[in-house]
Amino acid sequence: MKIFIDSGDIGEIKEAAQMGAIDGVTTNPSLLAKAGKPIRQAILEICEVVDGPVSAEVLSTDTEGMLKEGRELAKLHPNVVVKIPLIVDGLKATRVLSSEKIKTNVTLCFSPAQAVLAAKAGATYISPFVGRIDDLAEDGMKLIEQLVTIYGNYDFDTEILVASVRHPVHFVQAALLGADVATLPFKVITQLAQHPLTDSGLKRFLEDAKKIPKG
Ligand code: G3P
Repeated sequence: MKIFIDSGDIGEIKEAAQMGAIDGVTTNPSLLAKAGKPIRQAILEICEVVDGPVSAEVLSTDTEGMLKEGRELAKLHPNVVVKIPLIVDGLKATRVLSSEKIKTNVTLCFSPAQAVLAAKAGATYISPFVGRIDDLAEDGMKLIEQLVTIYGNYDFDTEILVASVRHPVHFVQAALLGADVATLPFKVITQLAQHPLTDSGLKRFLEDAKKIPKG
């Protein structure tokens, strides 16, 4: 399973990379707004730190605009993946970019039917947003289960990239279901490493170590 970091913060990305935890990065306009840098600069800085797929989202909502932006973003760095919203124009843009061998991440997916269309359009990744489904008192992980089954039924090449992950349980469930990728906020990556028994066990070892006779 691949882990991406869902962040536009270069400090967080560097730290997660130092942990050896991440295989790629996803960004979105909200995350890049928080980072406070022009999109191209932010994406290039990220590509210098992480040698893996880096998703950068188009802002246009019409096919022609998405194609223009997508081609420009793809030229920035070979690792750039063009992130495209799952709307009809976005599917059209995905099909064309896919035919040009430009990698795409189709985002804002909330249903299995949408995910099938993204796969048919040639998306490299599909991003179902589990946390935002949970926010509506529904089960976001149910969607991942459905996508794993449907994509498996037809051997679609599109990778399932679980997004809007809010806590470690989402991550573990995604792994158990066999999702290809989970993109995690930095906070969740650090939460994955934490366990109170690790902390108390280490404390006891260090206390006992003081009793070891000096040689
Ligand atoms: O990158 C898209 C997604 O991960 C956003 O998550 O927490 O804003 O729903 P969230």
